[in-house]
Amino acid sequence: MTAAIEVRDATRVFRQSTGVFSGDRLIRAVDGVSFSVESGGCLGIVGESGCGKSTLARLILGLLPTTSGEVLVEGQRLADMDRKARARLIQPVFQDPFSSLNPRRRIRDIVAMPLQAQGITGRAQADRVEEMLVRVGLPGAIGDRVPAQLSGGQRQRVAIARALVLRPRIVVCDEPTSALDVSVQAQILNLLDELRRDLGLTYVFISHNLAVVEHISDRVAVMYLGRMVEQAGTDALFAAPKHPYTQALLASVLTPEPGLGVPDVGLGDLYPDPANVPPGCRFHPRCKLAQARCALEAPVPREVAGHRVECLLV
Ligand SMILES: Nc1ncnc2c1ncn2[C@@H]1O[C@H](COP(=O)(O)OP(=O)(O)O)[C@@H](O)[C@H]1O
Ligand code: SF4
Ligand SMILES: [Mg+2]
Repeated sequence: MTAAIEVRDATRVFRQSTGVFSGDRLIRAVDGVSFSVESGGCLGIVGESGCGKSTLARLILGLLPTTSGEVLVEGQRLADMDRKARARLIQPVFQDPFSSLNPRRRIRDIVAMPLQAQGITGRAQADRVEEMLVRVGLPGAIGDRVPAQLSGGQRQRVAIARALVLRPRIVVCDEPTSALDVSVQAQILNLLDELRRDLGLTYVFISHNLAVVEHISDRVAVMYLGRMVEQAGTDALFAAPKHPYTQALLASVLTPEPGLGVPDVGLGDLYPDPANVPPGCRFHPRCKLAQARCALEAPVPREVAGHRVECLLV
């Protein structure tokens, strides 16, 4: 069976200008990442801020081209698809959905935007919008309001309605609950979970919050400095993490501060400069198990007891 998403050795390099004399900095935000998501599955992606999660989301959505490697969605290269076809297949849900929209636009019109772009108008459009608002648990009267009149949770429901109004098969969620209060986060997570089951959707679910990812994903990938250092089924990853970085991340969530979404990974604030990646294993300056060879030899992913792990010693 064709995977819903297949990412093959995807790399995305950004050039950051640092001024006339110092030359440009090259950032390999995503650096040789491979994985696949089976149809109907939910792959959670976790990692600290700056590790490349949002860049990877934009590569999968086709909003950003890869520098090398490729992304296949239902067996097709995104690069070969036009925008309208892509929108019918794969849609995003972002953290701050309306920051770029006209604040005077009504909710009904916001949800209708993808339909409008496909030439679906009039009664058909209105019916689909109403159906979606109900589906995401919003009262019909909300359609006449503007985003500022809604709570954070309601706004995220609107974003989900807009993402699903074209009945796509794949949804990429990038920190969809990170701006919400903890109690509201749970409601939105449960809604996303329920929609995936009912509509047979495939998710990529990105968050820096391990508890959130554990709740919704059936498989989890851990990113560090542009690489995927461990991938496994959710239960296996949380019960028996293999990579030292995953172990540190998990240890950090055992003592969470209530309401604080950002984990302290317990590794200090030594997140390396992404333009100057450490040689060998890029985690070695922070790894408690590091040995001399770790600074010299770059690990490649290996299968270890059902986990795909990138560590020389595992
Ligand atoms: N458009 C861009 N131009 C230059 N650098 C970028 C751009 N987008 C992201 N980056 C850099 O790429 C790295 C990964 O960023 P991002 O994918 O946003 O990480 P995350 O979502 O995990 O926080 C960071 O170092 C960030 O500064
Ligand atoms: S390769 Fe070495 S430094 Fe890297 S994670 Fe494994 S033990 Fe740690
Ligand atoms: Mg991000």
